[in-house]
Amino acid sequence: MENSTLTKSSILLLAAAILLLFLFPDLSTPSPPPSPVSCTNGITNNCTVTNAYGMFPDRSTCRALKVVYPTSEQELLQFVANATASKTKMKVVTRFSHSIPKLSCPGGSDGLVISTLNLDRVLNIDSTTMQITVESGVTVKALIEAAAEANLVIPYVPYWFGLTIGGLLSTGAHGSSLNGKGSAVHEYVTEMRLVTPAPADQNYATVKALKIGDPDLDATKVSLGVLGVISQVTLQLQPMFKRSLTFVTRNDSDLADQAVSFGYQHEFADLAWYPGQRKVLYRKDDRVPVNVSGNGAYDFIGFRPTATLAIQTYRFTEKIFETENDADGKCVYSQLITSTLAILAYGLTNNGLIFTGYPVIGYQNKMEASGGCAFRSKDGLLTACPWDPRIKGSSFFHQTTVSIPLDRVKEFILDLQKLRYLQPAALCGLELYGGVLMRYAKSSSAYLGKEADVLDFDFTYYRQVED
Ligand SMILES: Cc1cc2nc3c(=O)[nH]c(=O)nc-3n(C[C@H](O)[C@H](O)[C@H](O)COP(=O)(O)OP(=O)(O)OC[C@H]3O[C@@H](n4cnc5c(N)ncnc54)[C@H](O)[C@@H]3O)c2cc1C
Ligand SMILES: *[C@@H]1O[C@H](CO)[C@@H](O)[C@H](O)[C@H]1NC(C)=O
Ligand SMILES: *[C@@H]1O[C@H](CO)[C@@H](O)[C@H](O)[C@H]1NC(C)=O
Ligand SMILES: *[C@@H]1O[C@H](CO)[C@@H](O)[C@H](O)[C@H]1NC(C)=O
Ligand SMILES: *[C@@H]1O[C@H](CO)[C@@H](O)[C@H](O)[C@H]1NC(C)=O
Repeated sequence: MENSTLTKSSILLLAAAILLLFLFPDLSTPSPPPSPVSCTNGITNNCTVTNAYGMFPDRSTCRALKVVYPTSEQELLQFVANATASKTKMKVVTRFSHSIPKLSCPGGSDGLVISTLNLDRVLNIDSTTMQITVESGVTVKALIEAAAEANLVIPYVPYWFGLTIGGLLSTGAHGSSLNGKGSAVHEYVTEMRLVTPAPADQNYATVKALKIGDPDLDATKVSLGVLGVISQVTLQLQPMFKRSLTFVTRNDSDLADQAVSFGYQHEFADLAWYPGQRKVLYRKDDRVPVNVSGNGAYDFIGFRPTATLAIQTYRFTEKIFETENDADGKCVYSQLITSTLAILAYGLTNNGLIFTGYPVIGYQNKMEASGGCAFRSKDGLLTACPWDPRIKGSSFFHQTTVSIPLDRVKEFILDLQKLRYLQPAALCGLELYGGVLMRYAKSSSAYLGKEADVLDFDFTYYRQVED
């Protein structure tokens, strides 16, 4: 009885949340995310370092004695040399710092953080070789825009364009594809310039220029920031193309049999699995020539500037079910959310304005990634990214990702389904974060790249704010 009353009132709240979330997302120009570095002594000394969520997995932030903002490779070289000469630990921090783990902490409290905030220039686009050279702090958004101006595209990127090229290479970030060399951005690196510490007779720092074919590139292109500071990156692009995307929802009875073959059927295939609802969203997404008509865009709803009140209501409702241990309530909530998202086509439009039906055909640069909430002007936090830590009661989650080799995917899915049959409502919480996102990636020669062709499973779920 208590549960059903609770569920009803929550659903009412939810209805309000959905209205706010989806109908009035652009009430005003929103606020940009906070800087991951803040210092108490001036703007560069005695600093706290965190990530975009305001907290690392162990609930801490970390300290650094100083932050520097190089604006050129030459300045970067001097900062690294100085820190090396004085045996100071150093680590790179980026504009937004989107990694959940504590990767940007220099260790101890007397280290140096080197920010790539001002290393944000596109240096060169060569339309003959179809290559682009950028500084490492350039965002995926800026990279896509610069390439598109030259009628070129990067074929595969993470779906969120608020990442920097230095950060996403360091963590081996990827989109979803089994085509060619696969979906990892580091597969398309042709040159890289790194600033590394050096002995005193080399003035304590040196620039290493690595080109494709150099075996060291397999070490440096995915290196979690421990092999030096990436200064510049050159990427191989492709001629502009369009893609044609259709989302199809099916039940998950045959998911274990379909998951691998589906990846070979569509160049940009991915899967979002709603295990509680026993449904799967199949992304049928393929390259088409530019003369196919269509001017669609994919501006994913979860990455748009979102009204603060909507963010709080969404979280408040989730938290009620969480604290009451009401798994069934969560399932009802997730059904409402997922069906609303489906009606809104997840943020897809056929012409940049409205959705009229599948397939959505559009230029690659408008379809491959989004993230409007990270690129905004100040509005006093009327809108934000859903996870903005400055908002009390914002979205707060943890994410666990596993890479399953394609030849084990079937068993893995069957195992998850067995767990689901034991506790049918237990996995509904995942559905409030877009379901289990499954993306394809290929084996890589990079030492920290994938060892086999894999399906990556992203599990994103509720995290309590306080202990
Ligand atoms: C909304 C959202 C969606 C996401 N979607 C995807 C996705 O679709 N696919 C995917 O693979 N991942 C995805 N991610 C995860 C994302 O790829 C990682 O969080 C990413 O690596 C972070 O990039 P960053 O620029 O924020 O780097 P940071 O998190 O700031 O840094 C990551 C690491 O790289 C190091 N580093 C950064 N720059 C340099 C440099 N110039 N030189 C040396 N070291 C450096 C840092 O020291 C740190 O160790 C997503 C994250 C978010 C928040
Ligand atoms: C350094 O920062 C800490 C924590 O923010 C603060 O307690 C301390 O007083 C600061 N020290 C100086 C010298 O500013
Ligand atoms: C390097 O260190 C010296 C002495 O410690 C200091 O004077 C100089 O400003 C430093 N340069 C940079 C670029 O940090
Ligand atoms: C799942 O869908 C298939 C058709 O795609 C259908 O034959 C099957 O009965 C459905 N299974 C369940 C459990 O609904
Ligand atoms: C697109 O161009 C190709 C060759 O350039 C042509 O064969 C094809 O018919 C064109 N398709 C459309 C839809 O115009």
